[in-house]
Amino acid sequence: MLRALGAGTGRPTMADLSIDFAGIRSPNPFWLASGPPANSAAQVLRAFDAGWGGAVWKTIGNPIVNVNSRFGSIDYGDRRMIGFNNIELITDRPIEENLREIAEVKKRWPRNALVVSLMVETKEEWKEVIRRSEDAGADGLELNFGCPHGMCERGMGSAVGQEPKVLEEITRWAVEFARTPVLVKLTPNVGDITEPAEAALRGGARGLSLINTLQSLMGVDLDRLVPLPRVGSFSTNGGYCGPAVKPIALHMIGRLARHPATARLPISGIGGISNWRDAAEFIALGAASVQVCTAVMHYGFRIVEDMVEGLSDYLDARGLKSVNDLRGAAVPAFREWGELDLNYRLKAVIDPGKCIGCQLCYVACMDGAHQCIHLPGRTEAQSRAAGHTVVPKEVPKVPVRAPGSFPDRYVPFVHLEECVGCNLCALVCPVEGCISMEEAPGPPGSESWNDRVAKGTDSVAGGLEETRRAAKRKERPA
Ligand SMILES: Cc1cc2nc3c(=O)[nH]c(=O)nc-3n(C[C@H](O)[C@H](O)[C@H](O)COP(=O)(O)O)c2cc1C
Ligand code: SF4
Ligand code: SF4
Repeated sequence: MLRALGAGTGRPTMADLSIDFAGIRSPNPFWLASGPPANSAAQVLRAFDAGWGGAVWKTIGNPIVNVNSRFGSIDYGDRRMIGFNNIELITDRPIEENLREIAEVKKRWPRNALVVSLMVETKEEWKEVIRRSEDAGADGLELNFGCPHGMCERGMGSAVGQEPKVLEEITRWAVEFARTPVLVKLTPNVGDITEPAEAALRGGARGLSLINTLQSLMGVDLDRLVPLPRVGSFSTNGGYCGPAVKPIALHMIGRLARHPATARLPISGIGGISNWRDAAEFIALGAASVQVCTAVMHYGFRIVEDMVEGLSDYLDARGLKSVNDLRGAAVPAFREWGELDLNYRLKAVIDPGKCIGCQLCYVACMDGAHQCIHLPGRTEAQSRAAGHTVVPKEVPKVPVRAPGSFPDRYVPFVHLEECVGCNLCALVCPVEGCISMEEAPGPPGSESWNDRVAKGTDSVAGGLEETRRAAKRKERPA
């Protein structure tokens, strides 16, 4: 069996972590995304030392001038930076300096993937910057059609990513000039991600990278009444990234991985990846490599050690021989809503031994779900006065009070017949494993909404059926 070294860690692994992304080889799927951590040779060299398999260089083009005060973030509870925002532009360093450093890194790490991100304006500029990047040793090129602030005001970045025809044309120029694979980095600031993706494909792109950042405003300084991040007396919209955007990125990657036109294009997954689990999820939804920016800005290059080790152990535990074996494994399970099983049943089950009686589940179900979590010891009249419209006939024999807690810390119970299995109580419960969602018997067999439509049994009582029928009668010729 193939044994590979967990890059950077020196640790033997069973699974082969190396990848071939549209012809770009990398010892593992973990790449630095184009951004501050991939801004200079000094940084990328340290990153490769730490174990990163590749890097997409900070976008080069005609150097820009940045403002001071260019980052903002959202903290949540005791977690800092769960959402991150920036109004930084592309590189502020001369092209020549970047290229000299790219050549230096490539010389020192010939086996690692070094992709150069590019953003310029005219056809002549694309030709020149592509030639010079490849002469410096770029393994591939990533066209930055995603930056949603500053550069788009100048007709570049997401301004291109939002116009499929322009995106296709510039991609075609790049493909014409390039000797190495051309990847297109997409903006998520579009209605339908398949449109720019198909345009990139038509233009000849060999792979896609997504997502770039989401257009956003971080907040408002309520003393000065200026949005954030504040640059003197003003602010502007920026690009949102970090853990908060992961679900959006996963959705877009999964959508492209199951879209017939783009399913076979290699995708580099980006957006909120902080650990091996995040990376494995992106790969399972179709990504061939993953890129990381915010998590490195937060915790440093060292996070790759756990990523390599964690992914490797996961692949080994599942008996998968390579990253490629995991790639797209979850795509067949990603369906349209109309294909889901309407007969699938879940019920919330509270473990009284773990409950601390905080009643968060009670409140959530009461005000935000189906009023089927009850407090013990109430009469029917008291339950109805509290807002329950359906009261269980029997109260289950469970401990009434949470162990070792205050006298009013009741252990709630679920009226199972009324529970619609929405998951809300399990999501709000602060105690791990205290509320479990358990499968329950439902109607026999499975039936989706699409099945009902096909059978003509999709009419649900209580709707506007009569109005619909009357409209149809009117449409019919007399
Ligand atoms: C401060 C900052 C600067 C960035 N600069 C670039 C850039 O120059 N080119 C680019 O393609 N993406 C740039 N990005 C976007 C990232 O490459 C990445 O697509 C995005 O941050 C989502 O990944 P994350 O959640 O891991 O940060 C930048 C992101 C940040 C936070
Ligand atoms: S799963 Fe939903 S409906 Fe059922 S008890 Fe929990 S919150 Fe209420
Ligand atoms: S949220 Fe969890 S811990 Fe709190 S009362 Fe409900 S079951 Fe008990």
